[in-house]
Amino acid sequence: MSRSRPNRVLVTGGAGFIGSNFVRHVLDSDPEAEVVNLDLLTYAGQLSSLEDVSEEHGAEGDGRYFFVQGDVRDTGLLKSVLRGDAREGPAGGRSGRLAPPPDAVVHLAAESHVDRSLLAPRTFVETNVQGTVALMEACRLAAPGRLRILHVSTDEVYGNLEPGAAPFTEQSPLRPRSPYAASKAAAELMIGSYASWADLPAVIVRCSNTYGPHQYPEKLIPLMITRALQHRALPVYGDGRQRRDWLHVDDLVRALWRVLCDGRSGQTYNVGGGVERPNLEVVRSILDLLERPATLIEHVEDRPGHDARYALDIGKVGAELGWQPRVPFEAGLAHTVSWYVQNEDWWRPLIERAYRTAEELYLGSPFPK
Ligand code: NAD
Ligand code: DAU
Repeated sequence: MSRSRPNRVLVTGGAGFIGSNFVRHVLDSDPEAEVVNLDLLTYAGQLSSLEDVSEEHGAEGDGRYFFVQGDVRDTGLLKSVLRGDAREGPAGGRSGRLAPPPDAVVHLAAESHVDRSLLAPRTFVETNVQGTVALMEACRLAAPGRLRILHVSTDEVYGNLEPGAAPFTEQSPLRPRSPYAASKAAAELMIGSYASWADLPAVIVRCSNTYGPHQYPEKLIPLMITRALQHRALPVYGDGRQRRDWLHVDDLVRALWRVLCDGRSGQTYNVGGGVERPNLEVVRSILDLLERPATLIEHVEDRPGHDARYALDIGKVGAELGWQPRVPFEAGLAHTVSWYVQNEDWWRPLIERAYRTAEELYLGSPFPK
């Protein structure tokens, strides 16, 4: 049971994959909670992921969900959101409802795709590092001492895990190896500095590869599902023996809420699924579930600097907060495949719009030399 739950939560990046699932989870599991979603709506953010939430909990529903379109790098806007004088709609809009002042912040807004970070590293510094600093500045200036802050980071900050080595603990050194991972590590260090000099401690969650409904079809699992559904080749990087620790998004959002409510300020918690699988095995399982032939698999050039393995020790979050993953990987994957089969109207427009650019950039074309 939670000892102290927040009443009004600001979620940055709430229109993304994890964000939209988290917003829904908070509103569904706590009938008194209000959520303010601040999102820029980049290629990765879709309001279509939140249509049900908006209907049920927005202005026409029970009124507990608010959406402000804006940039997390805009400290002025964030201060106004934190003070409760920002209106719904595009930043600076005058007509929407006033969004209530939050007593907690969950920071998810980021550029999240490793491949893109190899092509546009500066964007990752701007969003992931400068965006985090802008948010911490706003918290310091507009709401000192009042806010609980949860920053969502990644197991990629630990870098590559050698075969046979024990999973990473929260004490493992930070050795990020891609611009994405380095930007997330830098964001964590910035947050740590605010605890020291501004007395603004945050809780950090480092989570592993997450999958489930509403994930943009550039990440491994939704990419392979949507391409297999179109009878297109499935690009597996290198030999496909790289291993990831898979976590279902339902388990993750439950962990985020648990840590937000009862995590110790200034602490870091690993949150993983405890399920390591080689990529090739995941791709084969998807093909089996969709009854598509293994001949669709195409081994392509490997990602430069590709981390071969991640795995997380999740003993701390279990011992302190009683959180454990509940969704078995096989069941979670089968459910995710069915979701994409049944929700083509969600992913098809993405493929036809922004994804076309990504495909030209990444698939079948070499990484930058
Ligand atoms: P996502 O790419 O699906 O969503 C990111 C969201 O952030 C989008 O809605 C986008 O519009 C928004 N955004 C981007 N730049 C913004 C800006 N400048 N201002 C406001 N909003 C902006 O990402 P995700 O997979 O949901 O990941 C969310 C967070 O969790 C990220 O911080 C990511 O690093 C972290 N994470 C993700 C995973 C994973 O497997 N997906 C694992 C570990 C950690
Ligand atoms: O570990 C947590 C991280 O997981 C998050 O912090 C990132 O936001 C998230 O994008 C994810 O990073 P990965 O690089 O591990 O995820 P991705 O889905 O891009 O790739 C998973 C594995 O699959 C990786 O080993 C690369 C491989 N891959 C990926 C794609 C897109 C392929 O073989 N082919 C592909 O087309």
